[in-house]
Amino acid sequence: MAISQEQVLKSLSKVDDPDLKKDLVTLGMIQGLEIVGNTIKFKVVLTTPACPLKEVIKNNCIETLTSDLGEDIELDIEMTSNVTTARTNAPLLPEVKNIIAIASGKGGVGKSTTSANLAVALANAGAKVGLIDADISGPSIPTMFNVEAEQPMVKQVDGKNTIIPVEQYGVKLMSIGFLTPADAAVVWRGPMASSALRQFIQDVEWGELDYLLIDLPPGTSDIHLTMVQTVPVTGAVIVTTPQKVALADATKGLSMFKQPQINVPVLGVVENMAYFTPEELPDNKYYLFGKDGGKKLAEKFDIPFLGEVPIVQSIRESGDTGYPAVLKKGVTQDAFSALAESVARQVAIRNAEKSKTEVVQIN
Ligand SMILES: Nc1ncnc2c1ncn2[C@@H]1O[C@H](COP(=O)(O)OP(=O)(O)O)[C@@H](O)[C@H]1O
Ligand SMILES: [Mg+2]
Repeated sequence: MAISQEQVLKSLSKVDDPDLKKDLVTLGMIQGLEIVGNTIKFKVVLTTPACPLKEVIKNNCIETLTSDLGEDIELDIEMTSNVTTARTNAPLLPEVKNIIAIASGKGGVGKSTTSANLAVALANAGAKVGLIDADISGPSIPTMFNVEAEQPMVKQVDGKNTIIPVEQYGVKLMSIGFLTPADAAVVWRGPMASSALRQFIQDVEWGELDYLLIDLPPGTSDIHLTMVQTVPVTGAVIVTTPQKVALADATKGLSMFKQPQINVPVLGVVENMAYFTPEELPDNKYYLFGKDGGKKLAEKFDIPFLGEVPIVQSIRESGDTGYPAVLKKGVTQDAFSALAESVARQVAIRNAEKSKTEVVQIN
């Protein structure tokens, strides 16, 4: 007997997306279904290109279909993705699906390192990614991407100056470092720094992006307020080390986003410098700054723990030479790729469960 579309969809509706906790048919993830003889062809459109569950979901589809329709069917399943968004009708950056702020309390905990590697990891997974260096007085993104000498082009669009971001390793970049000499100290008053960030959001041609990351300065500053007042932010990632002083500051950073008038969902906590490991002996772990501090912070505030990144000498070296550690096979690539997967996953969950973020109105 010929196989019908209904039979296939009924069978596939037994497969859940484990994160979104609904079945693939209800979620609209099954597309392009074609049945020719005993060959069943379709696409599974996931919500993130960096989906760690891709194989699990595919195998579940194969299992349910063969069990319901028989062993002699031929399956042609394409696993693809379309990143979701909660930024509907956004007046600014309408083509940017998700804006993710990378924050901490303390400086030097690895926000910029995390932002850079996260951006490259997401781009490598197939996403369209941009990165704004919002640390106006201490920009480090140009160095971390080895583009210190680059200058973004400016072109006229509709009579308005538009900045074309610098692109490196598949990531579109904007930093104050492109606009000032490398060795000059940028001593700016708060309002000037804020207007620079506003310009990076409003006057840069970002185009279509799945993820726009914003690498914030430490603490809770004017820049943070400018950001949430300029664009609705999809979510914030909090970076901390396991050390007590860093955790105390991370708590403040986290609380800022949770304040009712700001109300930016916290996507989770990253524990950077979780332990020291020699690259060639990755099983040797030395907990220099204490153990599991980030994990406990996540538990305390009931927010996701996104992952841990060890202290590896090559992470520091790759930051200095401008070749992100995630591009080099080994422990560093593994750590940052896993982190990118969990961030993308939390973005998808957030978009499925929570309504869009509103821009903050504070006078
Ligand atoms: N996991 C890590 N292993 C080794 N060095 C690191 C790691 N994370 C950050 N660093 C180094 O620590 C310094 C501070 O990191 P950075 O990302 O600039 O912090 P932040 O942006 O929070 O101030 C940099 O020199 C960076 O290369
Ligand atoms: Mg930084």
